[in-house]
Amino acid sequence: MMLHNKIALITGAAGGIGKRCAEAFIREGARVVVADRDVANGEATAVALRSSGGDVLFVPVDLAHPEQVESMVAQVVAHYGVLDILVSNAAVGGRRLGDGPVHECTVEGWDTVMTVNLRGAFLACKYAIPELLKTRGSIITLSSVLGMVGTQGLYDTHAYTTSKAGIIGLTRSIAAHYARQGLRANVIAPGLIDTRMAERTKATPELLAQVAFWQPLGPIGGVEDVAEAAVFLASDRAKFITGVVLPVDGGWTVQ
Ligand SMILES: NC(=O)c1ccc[n+]([C@@H]2O[C@H](COP(=O)([O-])OP(=O)(O)OC[C@H]3O[C@@H](n4cnc5c(N)ncnc54)[C@H](O)[C@@H]3O)[C@@H](O)[C@H]2O)c1
Repeated sequence: MMLHNKIALITGAAGGIGKRCAEAFIREGARVVVADRDVANGEATAVALRSSGGDVLFVPVDLAHPEQVESMVAQVVAHYGVLDILVSNAAVGGRRLGDGPVHECTVEGWDTVMTVNLRGAFLACKYAIPELLKTRGSIITLSSVLGMVGTQGLYDTHAYTTSKAGIIGLTRSIAAHYARQGLRANVIAPGLIDTRMAERTKATPELLAQVAFWQPLGPIGGVEDVAEAAVFLASDRAKFITGVVLPVDGGWTVQ
């Protein structure tokens, strides 16, 4: 068991990658806090994980509200006593939010995406770090290949891509600043992964064909591909690794 007795807080764990991370962390011996603004799916996830033997707490949180993020960390510590791992995973994206190429992206869309994706990750780290310093813990943030490379028109949500580039800067700053205190922080940068967030791509043959070209190992990755990388980075097997950006992208960014 790679995460025996660890307490892990995973934001956005009501579905998709976060939920699969919760399952994998429990399998490896962790106790998991599922944090999400989606109360129905968050509670359902917690119930399902408990029924398969997991020790799970669900905490409702909207990362857009600083006081809720502070309370989220306080609830984890009140329940489990300590915090060992933060997986900062929750994010939003898409044109329906007003995001788009810079000249079309609305100011409201920019603010919405930045508030959840980048400010929300900052807040989660801000309130978790004092606890993680006590346990010499670890942070894993979720960026994206779109935070590393641009694309020619097909993935055209520039608030999202900017937020994901910001996640890399945030995480590497944390990694450098807190390393002497034993805190590690690493980024996972997924390619296209089969979740709700990939629905538009899956429904658009032109996009799917393009991604199949970009991801030579397969047109779409599985949530387990990201979760297994998170298990490794969170575990002591990665104890000398900090500040890395690990693409889980089927070869997208190697080309
Ligand atoms: N799926 C992909 O292809 C892909 C690719 C690259 C990066 N990512 C990144 O992986 C992470 C997980 O994405 P996913 O595909 O599982 O998405 P998803 O939409 O399936 O899950 C995201 C979760 O975050 C929650 N969430 C959204 N806004 C929130 C808020 N304000 N407060 C609290 N919770 C909130 C949602 O309720 C949802 O449960 C994200 O950071 C995403 O940017 C995904």
